[in-house]
Amino acid sequence: MAKIISITNQKGGVGKTTTSINLAASMVKRGKRILLIDMDPQGNASVGCGVDLATTSVTTIYDLLLLETTAAEAVIKTDSGIDVICANGDLAGAQVELLNEIGRELRLQKALSPIRDDYDYIFIDCPPALNVLTINALVASDSVMIPMQCEYFALEGLSALISTVRKIRETLNPQLTIEGLLRTMFDGRNGLSNEVSRQLQTHFGEKVYTTIIPRNVRLAEAPSYGEPVVDYDPSSKGARAYMALADEILSLAAS
Ligand SMILES: Nc1ncnc2c1ncn2[C@@H]1O[C@H](COP(=O)(O)OP(=O)(O)O)[C@@H](O)[C@H]1O
Ligand SMILES: [Mg+2]
Repeated sequence: MAKIISITNQKGGVGKTTTSINLAASMVKRGKRILLIDMDPQGNASVGCGVDLATTSVTTIYDLLLLETTAAEAVIKTDSGIDVICANGDLAGAQVELLNEIGRELRLQKALSPIRDDYDYIFIDCPPALNVLTINALVASDSVMIPMQCEYFALEGLSALISTVRKIRETLNPQLTIEGLLRTMFDGRNGLSNEVSRQLQTHFGEKVYTTIIPRNVRLAEAPSYGEPVVDYDPSSKGARAYMALADEILSLAAS
């Protein structure tokens, strides 16, 4: 049965989507069966996996949350081997439409249960907010991965996020854990980055992944080709870092 991991941080631009796509693709390279769910109305994860959202026939996560569409019907197979459930602008409206629905926080969890056995990991790329979409992701998940940039305000939003995780654990999803904190866009020449990185390790100890994702232009270029970096430029620093992250997660799971 798939382990479901939400990739979450209510800050935008910290590397959630980049991590979702490239961790998913790295896991595929390791022979794992992977589903990536785009929960952000911006649809960046969908486009980054090569899906053309302009096609009117694309079934999306909106259809799953608000209509009768099943998860199996919404899955799109992509060239990199990642199965994707896409998002587009419709999802922005879903937040309001869900307000009147009974069990609105449980929609995603219910929708995913029939396909859980088809995958080894399901990754959910969350929007940059602690809204009903993120709550749906957290309720459906086993754990939360938090990408962070090691900069001055990085730690600020973290306590709100961790308290949200705690509240969900106390109410809707008792098994939810923190999978790990991932340092992204890291620049080791920057003294502040190193200082924030040390603070993270002091506060969160082993929850901080050993693997660090460096700042690497290949990671920023790859989405415009609709490819994960492990396909676009497998020898780049960015590709090697995400492969190392996949290996770290797999070895933690095995131990
Ligand atoms: N390690 C990295 N090196 C260079 N650019 C990166 C890296 N990670 C992300 N980016 C770029 O930074 C921007 C924000 O990243 P993104 O993954 O979209 O963040 P989020 O999903 O948290 O908003 C994007 O343009 C992305 O291509
Ligand atoms: Mg994003």
